[in-house]
Amino acid sequence: MPAEYLCTEAELYPVPKRLLDSSLSPTPHINSIEQYKKLYDESIKSPTEFWGKIARETLFWTTPFQTVLSGGFEYGDIAWFLEGQLNATYNCVDRHAIKNPDKVAIIYEADEPGQDRKITYGELLRDVCRLANALKAHGVRKGDIVTIYMPMIPEAIIAFLACARLGALHSVVFAGFSAESLRDRIQDASSKFVITADEGFRGGKTINIKNIVDDALKECSTVERVFVFRRTGSKVSFIIPRDVWWHEEIQKYRSYCPPEIVNAEDPLFLLYTSGSTGKPKGVLHTTAGYLLCAATTLKYVFDYHEGDIFGCMADIGWITGHTYAVYGPLACGGTSVLFESTLLYPTPNRYWEIVAKHKITHFYTAPTAIRLLHRFGREYIDCHDLSSLRIIASVGEPIDPESWKWYNEVVGRNVCSVIDTYWQTETGSTIISPLPCAILTKPGSATLPFFGIDLAVLDSITGKEIATTEAEGVLVIRQPWPSIARTIYNDHNRYFNTYLKPYKGYYFTGDSVIRDRDGYYWIRGRVDDVINVSGHRISTAEIESALYAHPTVAETAVIGVSDELTGQSVHAFVTLKPNCSTDAKELTLQIRKVIGPFATPKKIYIVSDLPKTRSGKIMRRILRKIISNETDQLGDLSTLSDPNLINILVDKVNSS
Ligand code: WT7
Repeated sequence: MPAEYLCTEAELYPVPKRLLDSSLSPTPHINSIEQYKKLYDESIKSPTEFWGKIARETLFWTTPFQTVLSGGFEYGDIAWFLEGQLNATYNCVDRHAIKNPDKVAIIYEADEPGQDRKITYGELLRDVCRLANALKAHGVRKGDIVTIYMPMIPEAIIAFLACARLGALHSVVFAGFSAESLRDRIQDASSKFVITADEGFRGGKTINIKNIVDDALKECSTVERVFVFRRTGSKVSFIIPRDVWWHEEIQKYRSYCPPEIVNAEDPLFLLYTSGSTGKPKGVLHTTAGYLLCAATTLKYVFDYHEGDIFGCMADIGWITGHTYAVYGPLACGGTSVLFESTLLYPTPNRYWEIVAKHKITHFYTAPTAIRLLHRFGREYIDCHDLSSLRIIASVGEPIDPESWKWYNEVVGRNVCSVIDTYWQTETGSTIISPLPCAILTKPGSATLPFFGIDLAVLDSITGKEIATTEAEGVLVIRQPWPSIARTIYNDHNRYFNTYLKPYKGYYFTGDSVIRDRDGYYWIRGRVDDVINVSGHRISTAEIESALYAHPTVAETAVIGVSDELTGQSVHAFVTLKPNCSTDAKELTLQIRKVIGPFATPKKIYIVSDLPKTRSGKIMRRILRKIISNETDQLGDLSTLSDPNLINILVDKVNSS
C-alpha cells in the first residue's frame, strides 16, 4: 500500500448521531471509548475471567468447563474451555427454535431476483436433523471429514450444520475452485463423504458443479458417498452406489436427530487456505472457541441486536462466510441473508435492491466490490431506500481512504458506521476493527484491537518489540484468543513453523503494519509470498506449481502487483523448455484448470530468461520494479548474472 494512505493526520470520523439516539437506533452494547478501554484492559489483564464469563453467558454448555485456558504459543498446545461440552448446532439452531420457531434464520436471495425464500429456525432445525440422520445412516460419524462443494443456497448451510450436529468436521471448498483443487483438498483430508449439488446458478450462468466433483473424484479413492442436492434439475451423471440424491435420502428419516455432544476442543471444521508454499493448508478450528468468538464479535464489532438483518455478501466457501453468514448470526439467533448472485446481476442495482427489500441493517463486503461499485457510479445507489442500514463493513484487504469515504457517503449516507474489519482464516473472527459506537474511525485504518487481542509490533529485522506508540513492523499477537486456529490438519509442524516459530512467544500474522500516534493500526499487506486478489488469498507458489505442471514451462516467477480495482493482481513470467511453444492464453487455461478462475493472471509474459543471482535464485524484486515502471530504482544489481536481461524484460513488459 502506498505510504500516502497512511496519514496519521487523517480526519477522525465521529460516531453518527443517529446511532447514539435511542429513539432511532438500538442502545449500543459499547457506547464510549472509555467503556471500550475498560473492557479491553480487563480482557488483556485477566483473559481467563473475561472469556470465562462471556463463554458462560453466550453459549449453552451441556457440561460446564472448569479451565478457561491451557497451553499457549510456546508449545503450540492452546486449548480453551477444557472439560466443557456442547454441540454447535444446539447453540446455533435448537435453542432459538425452542424459544422462537417462527423467527427467520436465513433469507435466501436467489440468483434470479424474485425467487427469495425465508427459512425459520423451526424449519432449519428440522432440515438439519433430517440431513444429519441421512448422513448418519450412510456412516458419517464424529470426527469424520465431510467435504462440501456447493453453490450459495440454504442447503449449503444445512449441510454445514448437519455435519456439526454429528460432530463431523466440514471442509468447505469454495465452488470457484477447479476439479484439481477440489481433489487435492479431498485427498489431504482423506474425506469419505462429499456433499454437492447437480448444478449452480451464478449471475445467470449455469455452473456444472457435479461434473467438477466427478472429475475430482477420479483420483479420490477414500470417498464412499456423494450426496447430491437437486438445485437445477438438469440431467447429471450419477454413479451408483457412490452417489445418492439428497431429496430421496432425507425422506427416509425423522426430523429430529439428537445432537452429538462434543468436547470444547473437538474440531468443528477445516478450511483450506493458501500459504507460502504451493500446498494449501487445512486450517482447523475447534468448536467452543470458534463459536464463542463468532458470536462475540458479531455482538460487539457489528453491534448486533435482536431484529437486525445481517447481510454478509461473502461466499460461504471462505472464512468470512463461515463466521459472518453462518455461525455468528445463527449463534446469536439472528437473521442472515444468503446471496446467491453477484453484485452486477442482472444490473448494478442488485445489492441495493436487496438491502431495501429485506431491510438489511448490516452490509458486509470487500474493498474490491466497493471499488467496482464506485466505478459504476452513484446513480445505481441513490435511487434506493437504504435507510435500514446501520453498519456497513469491509474485509479482505486494506481499504483505500477514497473508497472508504465513498462507501461512507454514498452507501452509508453519512449516517452509518463504517467498520473496516481485519482478520484471517486463522484468527477465526475479527481481531482489529472499530466498535461502531465507541471508536472514532479514520478512513483506511482498521483502528483498534478487539477484546482479548493483545497486539504488538515487532521490528522485522531484530524481532524486538517496538515500545513506542508510533511503530512500523510486523504484526504479532502476544496471547491466545479463543478462536485462534489450533493446527493445520495432519501437519502440526507446519502450523508451528508458520505462526509460532518465526517470533518466539508470539502468533505471527504474516502482515506488516503501521501503528500511528493514536495507537491506530494500518495494515499494509503480507510480508510472505501470499497475494491478495479481490480479497482472495492466493500463494504465488501455488500458481507457479500450476504453471510448472504444464509440459512446456521451464521456469516461472509469479508476483503480486498493486491494482486499482482488485487490490493486487497476478503477473507471471515464464520461460519455455527448448523447442517448445505455447501462448499466454494456453497458460491462463492451465491456471484456471489447476486452481480455478479466480486465480487467473492479469498478464503472462513469455520471456527468454529470468533475472537470477549468480547462485541461481530468481530475483522477483526486479520483476516487481519492472512492472511498476520503477526501473530507475532497481537497487543492487551486482549479483545479477546477466545485466543485459533487464532491458529485454522492460521491452517485453512495455509491449504486452
Ligand atoms: C489476509 C487474510 C478475514 C477474511 C478475509 C480474508 C488481509 C484481511 C483485511 C483488512 C487489511 C486485510 C491480510 C490478512 N486482510 N482483512 N480489513 N485490512 N488487510 O481472509 O483469506 O485468511 O486472508 O487478508 O493480509 O492476513 P484470508
